[in-house]
Amino acid sequence: MKNFFQTGILISGLLLCMSCDHKTETTAYSPDKNISVHFNLDKEGAPLYQVIYHNDTILQPSPLGLLLQNADFEKDLTIADMHIIDRQETWNPVWGQYDEINADCTEMSIDLKNKNKQFLTIVFRVFDNGVGFRYVLPGDTDAVIRQELTGFNLSSDNMAYWNGSDWETDEHFYIESKLSEVDQAKMERSISGSYSQSSPCKTGFNTPLTMETPAGNFISIHEAALWNYPAMSLCLDPQSYRMNVALPDMNGVTAQVQLPFSTPWRVIMLGSTAGELIESSLILNLNEPNKLTDLSYITPMKYLGVWWEMHLKLSDWSLESGKHGANTDNVKRYIDFAAEHGIKGVLVEGWNKGWGEWKDYIFTQPYEDFDIVQLANYAKSKGVLLIGHHETGADVKNYISQMDSAYQFYKNVGIHTVKTGYVGKIANQYHFDQFMVNHFNETVIKGSQYQIAINIHEPVHPTGICRTYPNLLSGEGMRGQEYNAWSEGNDLNHDVTLSFTRNLAGPMDYTPGIFDLQFLNTINKDYKKLTPAQKEEYKWQYRVRTTLAHQLALYVVFYSPIQMVADLPENYVDQPAFDFIKEVPVDWSDTKVLSAKIGRHVLIARKGKASQDWYVGGIAGEKPFQGTFLLDFLEDGPEYEAVIYADTKDTSWDKNPTACMISKQIVRYGDSLPVKMVAGGGIAISIRPRF
Ligand code: NOJ
Ligand code: CA
Repeated sequence: MKNFFQTGILISGLLLCMSCDHKTETTAYSPDKNISVHFNLDKEGAPLYQVIYHNDTILQPSPLGLLLQNADFEKDLTIADMHIIDRQETWNPVWGQYDEINADCTEMSIDLKNKNKQFLTIVFRVFDNGVGFRYVLPGDTDAVIRQELTGFNLSSDNMAYWNGSDWETDEHFYIESKLSEVDQAKMERSISGSYSQSSPCKTGFNTPLTMETPAGNFISIHEAALWNYPAMSLCLDPQSYRMNVALPDMNGVTAQVQLPFSTPWRVIMLGSTAGELIESSLILNLNEPNKLTDLSYITPMKYLGVWWEMHLKLSDWSLESGKHGANTDNVKRYIDFAAEHGIKGVLVEGWNKGWGEWKDYIFTQPYEDFDIVQLANYAKSKGVLLIGHHETGADVKNYISQMDSAYQFYKNVGIHTVKTGYVGKIANQYHFDQFMVNHFNETVIKGSQYQIAINIHEPVHPTGICRTYPNLLSGEGMRGQEYNAWSEGNDLNHDVTLSFTRNLAGPMDYTPGIFDLQFLNTINKDYKKLTPAQKEEYKWQYRVRTTLAHQLALYVVFYSPIQMVADLPENYVDQPAFDFIKEVPVDWSDTKVLSAKIGRHVLIARKGKASQDWYVGGIAGEKPFQGTFLLDFLEDGPEYEAVIYADTKDTSWDKNPTACMISKQIVRYGDSLPVKMVAGGGIAISIRPRF
C-alpha cells in the first residue's frame, strides 16, 4: 500500500493584533474570498459569529461559549489577542476518495479573557468549502466542562434532510422538511424502531444535518476530530430556525479533561451544488495527519460474510440455536467462493462463546464447531483474509476487560480486520457520551498496537479521525441493509439521502450487493401460501426496495474502503451482473459528482487507485431519473470500453427488480452517455482503456 506523505503545512501572512483590548470584532475570509466569518463581542461582551457564503447569509450572529466548573466564558469577555494566518497544506491519504487532498485555509485565533482573567481561545479555519471552529483551553490542570454554548442561528427556513436527535444511535429514517415543519410527529417517524434511544429535545437532529437555503446553496453541519468529548446532536427551535449544540452530560459533567484541551471542531460544510458536499474533504482536513507508521495490515477490500444468512434467519449466531452459521464447513464454503471470485475478505459473525443473552461474550474462545486456526490457515492458503467480529451486546465493561487478549488472539491467528458491535443500551452510559467516545477511540488506538483495523457498528458518527488512525476503516451509524431483512425496511429515498448526510461524515459500512431482492418468497414466509390480505400486509416487509442495478451502483455511490458483498454466495452464481462487483475497486484516486439532487438521485464517477479505470454509479429515489452525462473526466486520447449495467424499461423495484441490461460501448473523452433509472433504480458503469 502506498505510504503516507505529509507535504508539510506552510503558514504565511501573519496578522497580529496590536491593541486588542479595544477591538470587539474581526473577520476572516476563505482563500477564494467566497466565505466570510465575522466574529464580534456584543454589548454584554458575549461572543458571536456569523457566516456568509457568496452573498447568502448562512448563519445570523450565533452564540459561542463554554461553561466550566471554575470558569465561565459566556459574557463579559474582552479580546486579549488575535491572529489571522494563511495555512497551506496538501496531503496524501493512506486510502480514500482522492490521491491528494488540498487543505488550504485561513486560520483566525481569538484569545478571550473573562472578568476573572481566565483565558479561552476560539480558532476558526475558513476553507473554500466551509468553516470549522473549536475552543482551546490553556493551562495544565484538570478541568470540568459543564456546557458548550455553541449555536447555529440559521437565517432562513431551509429545506432540511434530517434524522432525529438521539444520543444512542443514528439508525433512523431520514425526513425531508423545512425547518419550520419539524415537529414531534416527524421526529417519531424518524426515530422509530431502534433498540435504544434518548432524544435531548422534542425537535432536533443528529449530524451531519444537511440543508438547502432558499438561495440554492447547500449546508451540512457536523463535527470533526472528536476526541475526549461527547458526540454532538442539535436541538432546533422550529419558529426561529435557531439550533444549539446538545451534548450528553453525566450528572452535569459534559467532559472531564486535562488542560490544555481542544474541543472537536464544529463544522459547516458549504457548496453551491449538493454534489460539492460529497466531493468535500473538509472533515478530514480538520483532523491531524496520520500517526501510524506500520500500515502493512490495513487492507481496503471487498468482503463476503457469514452474515446475511443470519439476518434472514437461515442460520444463527449462537450454537445453542441448532443452526449455527459460523461452523468450519460453512466458513470454508465462503472462503472457496471468495477465492474463486477474487473477493479479498470473509467476515465471520457468531464464532465465539457467549452468544445468547447479548452480554458476557468471550472473545478468545471459539465455539467447538469453528476451528479458527484451521480456517485461518485455509484462508491464507487461498489468498483470502478472515475478518473477525466482536459483538459486545453493549456490555462495554466486559469488552474493555478483554480487549488486549481479544486483539492478541486475533493477531496470533493472523486476523487483522475486526468488526465490532454495540447493540443495545449501555449500562449507565449513552453511546454518544464522553466515556463511549473515548472507548470507541481506544479500540482504534489499541487496535493499531495489535495490527488490527476496525469497523465499528453502532458507533458514534465518524468525525474524520481515520485520517489520524487509518486503521479505522469504516463504521455503521445509519440504517443499513440489515434493516431490509427484518424490519419494515428502508424507504425508497433512504440511500439517495445517505450520500448527502451520513456518508459526508466518513466511510459507511452499508453492506450493499443484495441480488435476491424478494427473498420473502423463499425464506421468511412462504409467500405463495399467504392470503391476498396477508400479501398486502407483508408487501413492505422482508425485501429490498431497489433494483439490481441500484445494488451494483452502491459500490461507487457509497464511499467506504471496505465494502461488503452482502448476499448469500449462491445468489451470485451464474449472475452476469456479479462481474461488476468483482471488478469495482474500493480505493480511489479521484471522485467527481456528475449530477445530484438530495433524496432524488445521485451520479458519481470515481477513478480507481493507481489505475486508469473509471467507474460510474447512479441511484434514484422514489422517482425515476433520466438524463445524460459527459465523459469529460476521461483522458483525452485513448479509447475506453464502457460496460453498462442498467435498469430496463420493464424493471421496477417492486415487480421486476432484477431485470438488468448489460451492454458494451466504445467511448472517448468528450462523449456523453444516457442515464435512465426507474424509481429505486440505478446504473453502474465500468469504463476502462482499451489496449
Ligand atoms: C448489528 C450489526 O449492525 C450487524 O451487522 C450485526 O450482524 C449484528 N449487530 C449482530 O452483531
Ligand atoms: Ca446496526
